[in-house]
Amino acid sequence: MTRQFGPDVRALDDVSCTVGAGEVVVLLGLSGSGKSTLLRHVDGLVTPSTGTVTTLGIDVGAASARELRALRKQVGFVFQQFHLVGSMTLLENVCTGALALLRGPRFGLITYPKSIRLRALENLDRVGLADQAFQRADTLSGGQQQRGAVARALMQQPRILLADEPVASLDPESADQVMRLIARISAEDNLTVVCSLHQVELALTWGNRVIGLRSGRVVLDTPTSGLARGEAMSVYAKVAAPAVPLLAKTG
Ligand SMILES: Nc1ncnc2c1ncn2[C@@H]1O[C@H](COP(=O)(O)OP(=O)(O)OP(=O)(O)O)[C@@H](O)[C@H]1O
Ligand SMILES: [Mg+2]
Repeated sequence: MTRQFGPDVRALDDVSCTVGAGEVVVLLGLSGSGKSTLLRHVDGLVTPSTGTVTTLGIDVGAASARELRALRKQVGFVFQQFHLVGSMTLLENVCTGALALLRGPRFGLITYPKSIRLRALENLDRVGLADQAFQRADTLSGGQQQRGAVARALMQQPRILLADEPVASLDPESADQVMRLIARISAEDNLTVVCSLHQVELALTWGNRVIGLRSGRVVLDTPTSGLARGEAMSVYAKVAAPAVPLLAKTG
């Protein structure tokens, strides 16, 4: 598939890939290489200019609004900026992850069905934050907030988790924790994960497979097992050569 923005920007150029259930696929590539655009195709936030994107059997370019809503219930999204509501408790933030499954708005924790509140607590426990359930979200560390955002995404019981630079705002230790968590949940739930990262080390440690993008083209698509760091770094090289790149600091 190809995605053009206006006459000049070809954000994705003849991209073809298939992600299997339960895989953890990491997208690597320089800023502007098309990672976010590719992620946004998966749940139809963006649709291809030519070619097709099929997610869970749905052709997102041809899907009706209703089909897309149904699809998006099965696709969780985690962002670089965690997007928790700071004034709410962590638990209530996690409960909001179930809103798509409920009817009508909710005002306050107590207005959620007990089953949802219990499931939110279970998900907080899974991400190691049961003790912080009643803490205001804006008093949590960045790593805790992102783990909370993962718990919130899990409320949808998604089949696919998309993560756009989920650890870009975190210190290395918290970043590793969040990626470890995402990989663990993928393995436990057979959850398919597509995640963009700027850290090659994290990609190699926690991903099953790396897709490298350069100017919208796939320049690398390979399992991480046996993949050398230098080879992964070549995604960032201006010319395809064994890279000892200036960008090593991002690793
Ligand atoms: N809605 C849009 N309208 C116009 N151009 C867009 C739009 N979305 C993305 N682009 C362009 O498509 C290209 C790919 O952008 P994209 O955001 O996918 O890159 P990225 O790999 O996620 O970069 P970063 O690492 O900075 O997040 C860029 O040239 C960008 O300017
Ligand atoms: Mg991006």
